Amino acid sequence: MNIGILGTGEVGKVLAAGFKTIGHDVMIGTRDPQAGKLTDWQAQAGASVQAGTFSETASFGEVIVLAVGWDHAKAVIDLADSTNFDGKVVLDATNPLTFEQEGQPPVLALGHTDSAGEQVQRWLPEARVVKWFNIVGNPHMVNPNFNGDKPDMFICGNDDSAKATADELAQQLGWPPVIDLGDISRSRYLEPLAMVWITHFFNTGFDGNHAIKLLRK
Ligand SMILES: NC(=O)c1ccc[n+]([C@@H]2O[C@H](COP(=O)([O-])OP(=O)(O)OC[C@H]3O[C@@H](n4cnc5c(N)ncnc54)[C@H](OP(=O)(O)O)[C@@H]3O)[C@@H](O)[C@H]2O)c1
Repeated sequence: MNIGILGTGEVGKVLAAGFKTIGHDVMIGTRDPQAGKLTDWQAQAGASVQAGTFSETASFGEVIVLAVGWDHAKAVIDLADSTNFDGKVVLDATNPLTFEQEGQPPVLALGHTDSAGEQVQRWLPEARVVKWFNIVGNPHMVNPNFNGDKPDMFICGNDDSAKATADELAQQLGWPPVIDLGDISRSRYLEPLAMVWITHFFNTGFDGNHAIKLLRK
């Protein structure tokens, strides 16, 4: 499958390398592919991942991953050209974070009655947006392993077939079957859940070796 990853931060790079390793064709999007920002990474973890503009990457992807800071999400979608998303599965890993105080956890820029997931779906009304992978730190996004145990991934979105694709891709990346919370408005709960992960990250000296699991009996 052609997977277009919008974003060259840690999340974009981890997912691009992970998808490439399991056999997908991957393009990672950046404002200026000629700037050399990805050269070292492409020589190692990102071997044979192509780099393109945001527009080239969105056009390339049959599935598109949105992995950019919330402050720049709309700008990146505009650069990518919203028509390149029409009909496609968009896996939205963003959290709408605002960093107000140095050394303190960020806060959510929106919530309760709205969410980043819903905003992304409104910006891309013809796309099939799924909130996905926003509740785990990037070092654990591919083949998560906690002493032999695996965390859970919760998702939400309006389109069942898009969520099936999101589940299939998560399982290919080494996750158990995802837990579907419902329509995209459930991002209102998944984005605060990410704040639990992030706050614990700050409280434990930026260790990051934690993830979320639903226990059942
Ligand atoms: N970090 C984690 O472990 C983690 C876990 C779960 C979810 N998330 C969420 O995942 C998303 C991605 O996080 P990240 O830390 O990997 O990425 P990031 O560093 O926040 O974003 C990197 C991307 O932002 C683009 N960018 C920066 N300034 C821009 C501007 N002025 N206009 C347009 N684009 C601009 C960069 O473009 P260029 O490539 O051109 O420089 C780059 O592709 C965030 O929403 C985050 O909250 C993060």
